[in-house]
Amino acid sequence: MDAYDCIRTKLDIREFSIEQVPHEIKLKVLEAARLTGTGLNTQHCRFILVEDKQNLENLAKDSTSGKWIVGSNFAIVILTDPKYHFHLIDAGRVIQNMQLAAWNFKVCSGIFTGIDKDSFKKDYDIPEELNISAIIGFGYPARKITGDMKDRVPLDSLIYFEKYGISKEVKNFNREQN
Ligand SMILES: Cc1cc2nc3c(=O)[nH]c(=O)nc-3n(C[C@H](O)[C@H](O)[C@H](O)COP(=O)(O)O)c2cc1C
Repeated sequence: MDAYDCIRTKLDIREFSIEQVPHEIKLKVLEAARLTGTGLNTQHCRFILVEDKQNLENLAKDSTSGKWIVGSNFAIVILTDPKYHFHLIDAGRVIQNMQLAAWNFKVCSGIFTGIDKDSFKKDYDIPEELNISAIIGFGYPARKITGDMKDRVPLDSLIYFEKYGISKEVKNFNREQN
């Protein structure tokens, strides 16, 4: 799948099958994180690979908006260092690269950010100074992905030309292309 098609088709999925994701694919997803460029090349992001069922259950317990993580095959916790003002931009970039790398291998994923941080830090021995930026759950989808159109606003309501507020009609891609 080329990069554009990957971006065009990728969805966030929250229901997973019990099929195991091969270890090599997990490593490639982590490698996608490692390869991601960070601000000033600081490479401050750290990742926890969670595969154990009990630990996935604990992630669900510590979550306020991602209880579905318990059904994932594995999860990756993204930790960043808030002393860098750009740390959340870096988090977004590694997250997107991991999700797209997984999608390329037909592995689906969903992200959540609602976390009971105190409880999480205790459960996973997280150093006090690090920020728990997000958690991604991965797995093969519970149902066949139908390729339904993404729920997105049209291009011309997002884009201005030359200066803020100057709109023009922009060709909108049709449903098939989306
Ligand atoms: C910054 C951010 C935070 C998100 N937080 C959550 C979350 O806490 N729980 C959740 O289930 N999904 C979360 N999502 C997933 C979004 O709901 C999802 O990306 C959006 O609905 C688009 O999904 P789609 O690409 O499948 O259309 C988050 C996504 C982003 C980018």
